[in-house]
Amino acid sequence: MSERRLLQLRDLARRTRARDLLFAFLALGAGLAAALAFGGIGWRGGFLVAAGAGVVLLARYFWGGRALATTDDLTQAPPQGLSLATAEALVERLPEPLLVLDSEGRILFSNSASYSLLGSSGVRRHISAVLRAPGVLEAVRLVLGGSGAQRVEYSIPVPVERHMLAYVAPIPLRVGDNGAEGPGAIIVLHELTAQKRLEQMRVDFVANASHELRTPLASLSGYIDTLRGHARDDAVARERFLEIMGEQAGRMRRLIEDLLSLSRIELNEHVRPEHAVDLGGVVRDVLDALAPQVAARGVELEVEIAPDLPPVAGERDELIQVVQNLVDNALKYGGGRVVIRAGAAAPSDADVRHGRANFVAVQDFGDGIARAHLPRLTERFYRVDVQRSRQTGGTGLGLAIVKHIVNRHRGWMSIESQLGEGSTFTVFLPWAEGGEQPARRSAPSETAA
Ligand SMILES: Nc1ncnc2c1ncn2[C@@H]1O[C@H](COP(=O)(O)OP(=O)(O)OP(=O)(O)O)[C@@H](O)[C@H]1O
Ligand SMILES: [Mg+2]
Repeated sequence: MSERRLLQLRDLARRTRARDLLFAFLALGAGLAAALAFGGIGWRGGFLVAAGAGVVLLARYFWGGRALATTDDLTQAPPQGLSLATAEALVERLPEPLLVLDSEGRILFSNSASYSLLGSSGVRRHISAVLRAPGVLEAVRLVLGGSGAQRVEYSIPVPVERHMLAYVAPIPLRVGDNGAEGPGAIIVLHELTAQKRLEQMRVDFVANASHELRTPLASLSGYIDTLRGHARDDAVARERFLEIMGEQAGRMRRLIEDLLSLSRIELNEHVRPEHAVDLGGVVRDVLDALAPQVAARGVELEVEIAPDLPPVAGERDELIQVVQNLVDNALKYGGGRVVIRAGAAAPSDADVRHGRANFVAVQDFGDGIARAHLPRLTERFYRVDVQRSRQTGGTGLGLAIVKHIVNRHRGWMSIESQLGEGSTFTVFLPWAEGGEQPARRSAPSETAA
């Protein structure tokens, strides 16, 4: 019984008790008045009868009051179990889809988390009409037939592949007016898509990494055999082969360095770097280091660094890696002209969580990248043109490293590209604690050709 109902009953009992007492006194008064009027009793006797009856009536009233007080124990006693309404509200608020089935396999109840999966509440429909997973239907049949709880994994192929785990367990259901219990089942669904993707990524990663290492290793072994065999006495061939072997060894070294660097960054990704770093200085240092490559490729370079840029919160070495990777890509895949800009991002670009930021944008005028590739560019080993990347000594890890460093710095990046026109990679990095408003924003200050 609900607490509200008990309180109502207690109030009713109290009012009935008071009314009864009133009527008892009225009856007693009327009886005494009649006895006095008809001379059946004297004033003295009347007073004694009235006093005695009054004491008995009051004693009865207070005794009844004590009995009534025990209803307080009932109202204040801890609930014996959840009410149906509470249980329904609880299931409704669960983040996991949950369905209750009757003994025939029809849906009696479904929470709103299941609507997106079923397309509707599905109530009164048979489970086979809303969940097309033979394994789950078999588990439901077994559970309704008296078996214990079952776990079944299944996949939903369209519109996007999803992996689910269904937990099917028996529950007793109250059926009919007499409250008899019959068999029922609950199905709780748990999404495994993210977990499966992660597993797949790990498998792909190991496969990709070993494949990338195997290619230069196979080439090295081949040249060693050749040098031991027919090229043994050929000085010219030996020189050429040793040069190729040196390149292949360099490629293996770069791959291992990149992999180590990536796992180091990932390990620290949750720790935001604290140093205040001058982004303009980082860009200048990278360009100094890459000057020989720029000259060798004959690339026309334009640099615009805003003066008085507030420092960003960062790790200088990691930020050098970011700019180096972006400029390296622009030199490798861009056309003959590259523009590098660094400045304070417009306040409208500020990230709501991390406030104002600086940006570095590397723009090239090369072939550009087809739209379909853009979302995947920062994946490990993802290359638009594998052959071209390998020829230029690329490992396909550069942008993955950039993405992880930017994440660690609580920054963000954008990639814009147009086929045949070129690409712009922009990285935004939040200001260090207490970053000052820059004196002038994004005004070009240096231009190098
Ligand atoms: N500026 C660019 N223009 C055109 N394509 C680009 C550009 N930058 C990157 N790409 C494409 O994105 C792919 C991934 O780039 P990423 O830097 O991750 O690897 P990589 O340059 O091939 O190797 P690494 O950087 O490890 O030497 C490249 O292989 C290339 O196909
Ligand atoms: Mg690269």
